[in-house]
Amino acid sequence: MNSEIDSTRERLQQIDALIYPYIESNNSTLAKALYQLVVSGGKRIRPRLALLTGNMLGAEPQPLLRLAAAIEMLHIATLVHDDLIDRAALRRGIATLNSHWSSAATTLTGDFAFAVAAQLAVQADSFPVMRLFTETLGSMVGGEILQLSSAKGISMREDYYRWIQAKTASLFELAAGAAARLSQADDDVVAVARKFGHEIGMAFQIIDDVLDFTGQEASLGKPVGNDLRQGTVTLPALYYLEAHPDDPTLVSVIQRNGHTPDSLERLIATIRDSRAIERAISEAEGFVQNSLTSLEAFPETPERQALAAVARQIIPTSIYAQRKATANV
Ligand code: IPE
Ligand code: IPE
Ligand code: MG
Ligand code: MG
Repeated sequence: MNSEIDSTRERLQQIDALIYPYIESNNSTLAKALYQLVVSGGKRIRPRLALLTGNMLGAEPQPLLRLAAAIEMLHIATLVHDDLIDRAALRRGIATLNSHWSSAATTLTGDFAFAVAAQLAVQADSFPVMRLFTETLGSMVGGEILQLSSAKGISMREDYYRWIQAKTASLFELAAGAAARLSQADDDVVAVARKFGHEIGMAFQIIDDVLDFTGQEASLGKPVGNDLRQGTVTLPALYYLEAHPDDPTLVSVIQRNGHTPDSLERLIATIRDSRAIERAISEAEGFVQNSLTSLEAFPETPERQALAAVARQIIPTSIYAQRKATANV
């Protein structure tokens, strides 16, 4: 498995080399800022999933690399727009574009990144992959529009799941599903790969939402506590709401009608120290478990083992310290 991890690392570097010329072709200051965002790291979990799934199922290496690069670029494009919408100041440990530039300039740079993603996706030279790619784009944007345009914030877990499926899990589904499609696998194999991606993606967003309460800005490279401050209600807040349906601050966040900054900070701290965190982590564990079950449909290979390792790492061990601390609250 170590050699599998080494070769995946090498191929991830090849992906960066595929992306750079597209960005360098535009000599603007904003393209340089986008370049900084690409080179500033990121966990590269989506292209890793694509590469491992494609290799497991025998996809051609060159189209697969281009698909993986397209997926990372699509992710980066959504981050640029997401940080503008969320008014976030930090991403991947560096200042966001929106913290330096106007909304117009940031939006255009995000659009440029979407265009690069589409150009790379075309390079995978597969019509079915292109169709999956455009469907995912529609789903991701649709999810964000739904959230932004609804008069009231999310107040039920069903709405939350629908929302995170659209904005996050759909891209994980694309990573695994399109890689399977490239490998000429049968439809039922593609469906299993998509399901695997879906389960991992759901767990990933839930953990991201937990870390927004419990994590540290320095290690995450992005702000914490920002979700509720921006009026975004996520799973920990929803579990807290189920236990405290009359909490006046949370109710006012959901109804989007004024509350004091102090009461909001108190609410964030209260949720962080409540059992809601523990419940959300358990929910993520369920999704990880389902993803591991899906994997069993695939032949036992080093890639499958590496995919299982990626799935298990979705929940960082550091999160359990918080869980222990809140278990009895
Ligand atoms: C952040 O994704 C956006 C979410 C869907 C939560 P990542 O946590 O994968 O961001 P990078 O790529 O590592 O920066
Ligand atoms: C992910 O949600 C949004 C995208 C799909 C880009 P978040 O808004 O929670 O992501 P972070 O926390 O800013 O990375
Ligand atoms: Mg955000
Ligand atoms: Mg987040």
